[in-house]
Amino acid sequence: MSSTPILVTGDRPTGRLHVGHLVGSLYNRIKFQDKYKCLFLVADLHMLTTHFDKVKEVEENTVQMVLDWLSVGMDPEKSVFYIQSQIPEISQLSTILNMLCSVQRSQRIPTLKEKIQDMGVGENYSVGLLGYPILMAADILMFKATKVPVGEDQLSHIEITRELARRFNFLYGEYFEEPEPIISEASRLVGTDGDRKMSKSLDNCIYLSDSEKDVEKRVRSMYTDPKRIRADIPGTVEGNPVFIYHDLFNPDTEEIDDLKQRYRTGNVGDVEVKKKLAKAINIKLEPFREKRAYYESRIDDVKSILHEGTQKAKEAAKNNMEGIIEKIGLYRP
Ligand code: TRP
Repeated sequence: MSSTPILVTGDRPTGRLHVGHLVGSLYNRIKFQDKYKCLFLVADLHMLTTHFDKVKEVEENTVQMVLDWLSVGMDPEKSVFYIQSQIPEISQLSTILNMLCSVQRSQRIPTLKEKIQDMGVGENYSVGLLGYPILMAADILMFKATKVPVGEDQLSHIEITRELARRFNFLYGEYFEEPEPIISEASRLVGTDGDRKMSKSLDNCIYLSDSEKDVEKRVRSMYTDPKRIRADIPGTVEGNPVFIYHDLFNPDTEEIDDLKQRYRTGNVGDVEVKKKLAKAINIKLEPFREKRAYYESRIDDVKSILHEGTQKAKEAAKNNMEGIIEKIGLYRP
């Protein structure tokens, strides 16, 4: 038996991943793989909570997302990749946990309130959406994970998971360990519009799968200091998305310092700053593009990775479900 802590995290298969995901979660995942037993889930049931009518794209979105995972170095030799919906035990555990959570408790989750507001459905949201955080608790407790990397906005989901673990233990006897969240330092990357968090729905993204040309184009149209209508007007570096990105993606700190100094004094054009940024981002993305191309020509391998990972996760979930049912004391004639 290994005592390596178990980590669970994943993404909803709603589309391709972008550089916000890279700095917010993917870089960390690559490191975690050598420290923890990592389980990476394709959260397709969570996707259904809001996209129940958009299942046509789920296969394509899953494959694209897993290509993104593979391209950055998430490694199926080290970690398990699996499809949430294909493990019925997760739904079963979610049903059990539903009994231990009041409707009001779930309604208090801030991300849920936001989502319901965004959807503009008033009180008319589904039971499934209300159960979002409980399903996430099931994802985590199903594998007795103790490490859960999430964005800061989902901290409340880990809190509810901890409460449910405690409640289960109190009612049925000590069984679950309370998981800990791991919050990434860079959990919110501003989009190319300089306005809001990078997000597909806002069309302010640089995707991991973007071509060199796409990146150049996207960077060229990036929001910068609006005061600078000419290159000789001194500009503001702080909070300027072009420099936020330079700091994150350009390893040449001397070049960045020089650009910042000239920007502040009105001695550089936006075109030069952006050209250098696009180049730096393209250098970062190049090895990912190569790896992606490798797997794109071997889609059957990608499917096998998901298939085998799901089988492995299923095995573990089955075993744990036996223990859970026994612990609760349900009758099994
Ligand atoms: N809710 C997460 C998201 O929106 C995805 C997710 C589903 C998840 N289950 C999880 C993350 C379990 C961590 C642990 O991206």
